Amino acid sequence: MLEWNIGQIADSVQGLMMIGLEFAVFYIAIKAWQQGLFTIGDFVWIQTYLIEIFLSIWRFGRTVRDVYRNLADAEEMTEVLHTEHEIRDPKSEKQLSVVRGQIQFQDVTFGYDESSNVIDDLSFKIKSGQKVALVGPSGGGKTTITKLLLRLFDIQKGKILVDGQDIKKVTQDSLRSQISLVPQDPILFHRTLMENIRYGRRDASDKEVIAAAKLANCHDFIMSFPKKYDTFVGERGIKLSGGERQRVAIARAILANAPILILDEATSSLDSASEALIQGALENLVKDKTTLVIAHRLSTIMKMDRIIVFQGGKIVEDGSHADLVHYKTGLYKKLWDLQVGGYLDK
Ligand SMILES: Nc1ncnc2c1ncn2[C@@H]1O[C@H](COP(=O)(O)OP(=O)(O)OP(=O)(O)O)[C@@H](O)[C@H]1O
Ligand SMILES: [Mg+2]
Repeated sequence: MLEWNIGQIADSVQGLMMIGLEFAVFYIAIKAWQQGLFTIGDFVWIQTYLIEIFLSIWRFGRTVRDVYRNLADAEEMTEVLHTEHEIRDPKSEKQLSVVRGQIQFQDVTFGYDESSNVIDDLSFKIKSGQKVALVGPSGGGKTTITKLLLRLFDIQKGKILVDGQDIKKVTQDSLRSQISLVPQDPILFHRTLMENIRYGRRDASDKEVIAAAKLANCHDFIMSFPKKYDTFVGERGIKLSGGERQRVAIARAILANAPILILDEATSSLDSASEALIQGALENLVKDKTTLVIAHRLSTIMKMDRIIVFQGGKIVEDGSHADLVHYKTGLYKKLWDLQVGGYLDK
């Protein structure tokens, strides 16, 4: 708006000034010609110059207007950058304090849009130190549950509590520092492997990074690269397989050493060697921690204390492996029968 107004005003003022100037020069020239001071040639010469000057002024006006237009565009862009995130910290800036690492969902309802709910009135409680496997059909909302726990989205109804504290009432930084997430498809930065693992805890020394990499079963494959820990990963560097990337993410989580751990197992099948390596890495990671694993593989599920079967936004079965396999008509039993000796995929 500002740019448009300025453009109009500048145009009008310029136009008026030019007309005025033209008249003045014309008048003076005619007077001078009458007194015999000017020839017709002089008159034409002055006119030519005048037109030339007008054109220059016109172009200058244009330039000024362009500058203003660009400034206005830039302002709009910075406005977008400054728009506040929908998810806000509480005014009190209270920090989450985690002693035991207990997780509780209380009547939680959530949908990405109003038309359908992915999570429907969900309630469950994970005791401190408990290791829980979450299983269920693909697209059922398992990853969504982890996003809600990290408060990447706000829920429509209900409450999520960590150690009895509502996650809405504490800062997002303090919440996320207490929860380590190993995502389904970990993202690595275009940096060295050393820096990528250190992302778990910025102040970790090289020695600590390497120790974590060893526990996560990353060390051996990293040492096989010519530049070892200084190898660049990502588009312009070396490409890692899904299993290797997940192990790097596990190394990050080991380094972060948060009391609550979420692991979203990759859905793509791994060969049994890398599966065993991930299992080993996991065992090192979950010690003494409250753990929620979204499991697709029997090898993982078997090691957990408790299994929650999640379908259609609700919990349909909940218990130990031994309990659930005996439940003949249950979904878990069906999945188990389908996948014995293999993977629990879709
Ligand atoms: N960011 C998003 N915006 C809108 N819809 C989404 C978003 N993320 C997921 N969904 C939808 O929510 C539903 C649940 O997705 P979610 O990723 O939680 O499934 P999942 O149980 O983790 O599946 P999988 O086992 O394949 O990983 C799906 O129907 C999906 O299309
Ligand atoms: Mg998922």
